Amino acid sequence: MLNRRIVLDHRPSGLPTPDIFRVEEVAVPELTEGQVLLRNRIFAIDPAVRGMLDDVKSYMPPVAIGGLIPTMVLGEVVRSRHPDFREGDYGRAFAGWETYSVLSPSQVGFENVHVSPDLPMTAYMGACGWSGITAYVGLKRYGEMRDGDEVLVSAAAGAVGSVAGQIARLSGCRVVGTVGAADKARIVTETLGFDAAIDYRAEPDLGMALDRAFPDGIDLYFDNVGGATLDAALPRMKAFGRIPVCGMIANYNQQTEPFPIRNLWQMVVNRITMRGFLAYEAADMVHEAEAALAGWIRSGELIALENVATGLESAPDAFIRLMSGQTTGKTLVRLDQDVSIFPN
Ligand SMILES: NC(=O)c1ccc[n+]([C@@H]2O[C@H](COP(=O)([O-])OP(=O)(O)OC[C@H]3O[C@@H](n4cnc5c(N)ncnc54)[C@H](OP(=O)(O)O)[C@@H]3O)[C@@H](O)[C@H]2O)c1
Repeated sequence: MLNRRIVLDHRPSGLPTPDIFRVEEVAVPELTEGQVLLRNRIFAIDPAVRGMLDDVKSYMPPVAIGGLIPTMVLGEVVRSRHPDFREGDYGRAFAGWETYSVLSPSQVGFENVHVSPDLPMTAYMGACGWSGITAYVGLKRYGEMRDGDEVLVSAAAGAVGSVAGQIARLSGCRVVGTVGAADKARIVTETLGFDAAIDYRAEPDLGMALDRAFPDGIDLYFDNVGGATLDAALPRMKAFGRIPVCGMIANYNQQTEPFPIRNLWQMVVNRITMRGFLAYEAADMVHEAEAALAGWIRSGELIALENVATGLESAPDAFIRLMSGQTTGKTLVRLDQDVSIFPN
């Protein structure tokens, strides 16, 4: 059996370009005890992968030249030597852009996902998958969200941000999102029910826009971007404000020259708790998060935004669009046309 996969041809400089990727075919290896073979159905396209394409130290090792591009996959079990997986089950784990994945229990996110027929399959890779789980644990555990909080969410029309803002709204908070385009601002307020949106590209002074949106200050800033937005938010936090740091995408295409944060002293002034987190380290909350997210999606209280490309070869383009801010909601690649998606 042949596995078609996408590997790193050479390292990118700045925004990735299609030539850094190459397609190859290799044999699918035999399973050893405890392993599962998936025929992949969906890839989650994630900004954190950009960091792994550079040869720098991070929480995941860099991708080697010629190495598989890593990603979270959802696939159908076609062979199993694991007692908890049977043929026809759906497995999810951090694997790669490939048609077949061999999963071992030690892999990040290794899980038998009970795909329910009343949700599109893509839900399990977006709002009801790790993007939703990240939003949920980021707000509840690391952001210590409370009823009535004034909440700022950056990259608010994106995969994690769109869910984070909606969870905050459903939890009794007032929510404002920052976005990089007028159409994203409309989606965030009109479709997702945020109280307001700030198009940071259209604002001559982001700090003044935040002052208008939060005259009494910000209790909780769910930070997806770092950079200028974090710098502007720091002086506008209320006393004992909380900043769960989910990611810093503003730096991912320029890791050697990150944006200089000038307002860090405001952590002392405002006695801010700022905490970086990795969602998969909140493993004890995963089932709670999945149940809550599925319930909200089924009841129509939470809209699952996604943009879906089809076919293995579309993964590089989907990733480049994500890394240039052109996407809304979760960016996904389905390997076959028959994978069910949310209607737009
Ligand atoms: N800690 C964790 O466990 C965890 C898990 C998943 C994701 N994350 C992080 O969460 C953040 C959001 O991830 P996501 O998957 O939800 O992505 P996303 O928000 O769907 O897409 C990225 C968005 O970031 C915004 N952005 C801001 N500055 C940018 C820049 N310089 N270049 C490109 N885009 C920029 C763009 O929106 P605008 O046009 O609105 O600016 C873009 O659409 C990322 O930082 C990611 O690394 C963390």
